[in-house]
Amino acid sequence: MKISITGANSSVGINLLGHLSEIEGMEVIAGVRSKSAFASLPQSPAVTPTTISYDDSASLEQALAGTDCVIHLAGILIENKHSNYASANVAATAAVVEAAKAMSVKHIIFISVVGASASSSNAYFRSKGAAEELVLNSGLAGTVVRTPILMGPGTAGASSLIGTASSGQAKVLGGGDYSMRPLDTDDLSSALIKLATKEAEGSQVFELVGPEAIAYKDLIKKTAGLMGKEVEVGSVPVLFAKIGAAIGSTIKGGGITPTVIDVITMNEVVSQNADSQIGISLTPLQDTLTKILNNE
Ligand SMILES: NC(=O)c1ccc[n+]([C@@H]2O[C@H](COP(=O)([O-])OP(=O)(O)OC[C@H]3O[C@@H](n4cnc5c(N)ncnc54)[C@H](OP(=O)(O)O)[C@@H]3O)[C@@H](O)[C@H]2O)c1
Repeated sequence: MKISITGANSSVGINLLGHLSEIEGMEVIAGVRSKSAFASLPQSPAVTPTTISYDDSASLEQALAGTDCVIHLAGILIENKHSNYASANVAATAAVVEAAKAMSVKHIIFISVVGASASSSNAYFRSKGAAEELVLNSGLAGTVVRTPILMGPGTAGASSLIGTASSGQAKVLGGGDYSMRPLDTDDLSSALIKLATKEAEGSQVFELVGPEAIAYKDLIKKTAGLMGKEVEVGSVPVLFAKIGAAIGSTIKGGGITPTVIDVITMNEVVSQNADSQIGISLTPLQDTLTKILNNE
């Protein structure tokens, strides 16, 4: 089987490539935006790195030639001077969908986020919702996997959690009262492989979250406990943080914005977890945390 991945150098991509390269007979095209990203990819005879440009349909079509399924991972939460939601989340998805259609790829899988909606008042959720619609209305078999905060080596969530938990005294947004459902990136990779390797049917949306709901403040304390440390968790009022973020992001042309703060502090709630429907078992939160700490 041949699978193409976009954003292959993302934290999810690197994890997924590791899992895919252990499957006999699997051929993977790992699409990244620059040759310099090749070095970050797992080295395996099963994995062929290639450069793609979302503005150059020929490069995308070449990366998708003969592929059974494309897993579109490229996307951002934090905008910067070079990447915004319109380019990274919407236009890149549109380009991948068009290339997949041109190359008669049977199945496109897109990683979205819990809370995505094309009618959301939040610009990030709206961009992911718009991208979902492009995939689901593509005419190809389209699968959307909405995820919560991801925990695994190299994920932004894991780095921030470990930094906060080891700080002794942490101040977090709203005192960290919001509820999270952290998902292990190994579990996400297992789910993506299950979905990519079975016969695709029409359009489907899955919400896949971790096994345990936990307030962020408790997640910090739990992580500190596993490190044999104690941490005091204080509060940064969300309104003050948003004012600071609005000013800072305007000056810098990106970074943490009020939009990002709303995403971070949203309660991650789903009506039904897709783990059993997809056919995976979820890693207990404690084991996920132990894994990310051992990777430090
Ligand atoms: N991490 C999480 O907690 C989380 C939660 C929910 C959903 N997701 C989604 O899961 C996917 C992977 O997330 P991640 O955290 O593993 O990503 P990541 O490590 O932050 O990597 C982001 C990827 O997007 C690419 N990218 C950035 N700007 C782009 C643009 N303008 N056009 C095309 N590609 C661009 C990057 O390529 P370059 O290296 O070339 O810039 C990189 O491959 C993303 O779609 C993300 O939205 C992540």
